[in-house]
Amino acid sequence: MEVIIQKDRERASLLAADIVATLIRRDPAVVLGLATGSTPLGLYRELVRRHREEGLDFARVRTFNLDEYRGLEPDHPASYHSFMWENLFEHVNVDRDRVHLPDGMTNDVPASCGAYEEAITAAGGIELQVLGIGANGHIGFNEPSSSLASRTRIKTLSRETIAANARFFGGEQYVPRHVLTMGVGTIMDCRRCLLLAFGEEKAEAVAKMVEGPISAMVPASVLQLHRRAYVVLDEAAASRLQLAEYYRWVYEHKPAWQAGAGPGGKP
Ligand code: PGA
Repeated sequence: MEVIIQKDRERASLLAADIVATLIRRDPAVVLGLATGSTPLGLYRELVRRHREEGLDFARVRTFNLDEYRGLEPDHPASYHSFMWENLFEHVNVDRDRVHLPDGMTNDVPASCGAYEEAITAAGGIELQVLGIGANGHIGFNEPSSSLASRTRIKTLSRETIAANARFFGGEQYVPRHVLTMGVGTIMDCRRCLLLAFGEEKAEAVAKMVEGPISAMVPASVLQLHRRAYVVLDEAAASRLQLAEYYRWVYEHKPAWQAGAGPGGKP
């Protein structure tokens, strides 16, 4: 894991945008895995700004989102379809046919989840997957105890996640209990992961993910086995890392040959 600690979430989001923009410029038809939630909002804002002001071109970019609620129409205001259009897709020149989210309304969940996996494979796999982390250590909606080999499938949300997401629905009782989510194995197949985490409320999950044992109880900890996982944190989210000083030192002393070698290097 490459742990990169930034002063605040604004700087961390800019660095994340550098990583994503570098990949889009390198391959205009790059396949991106995208995430929802509060965490990637600064990243998406910066990508929109770069599209408007610097001509960052999304015309051929292909995207696959991590997850979607079961039973919400795509135009439901709290669906992840709506989230992505509101916060990113509507503001860049993305091609509607090139964006993909799991189909929360499908009548055949296993077939639809299988087709989602096949579509990712047919696109050549995901080059970079953007991730947040739940306070309980989930990635996507892979709650603690999820199989670390899992593929896209239906999951039942934990009470903790339902409570955390109630703010988008106006109350816990309105949050769907089920979701379709890429599996942990699906996420591990992407060529790069870019996990963002901000704020004190994520500090414990981040410490377990980076420095704890690999365990299905903390699904994000499996990223320790990923060959190219960038973990971009603000100071608060990094506050419980035992080796925080070492990660800072590594980043500051990144050799020029490595820094120039692509995303994750110093911008
Ligand atoms: P958040 O959610 O970005 O809204 O904190 C992250 C997650 O649950 O994965």
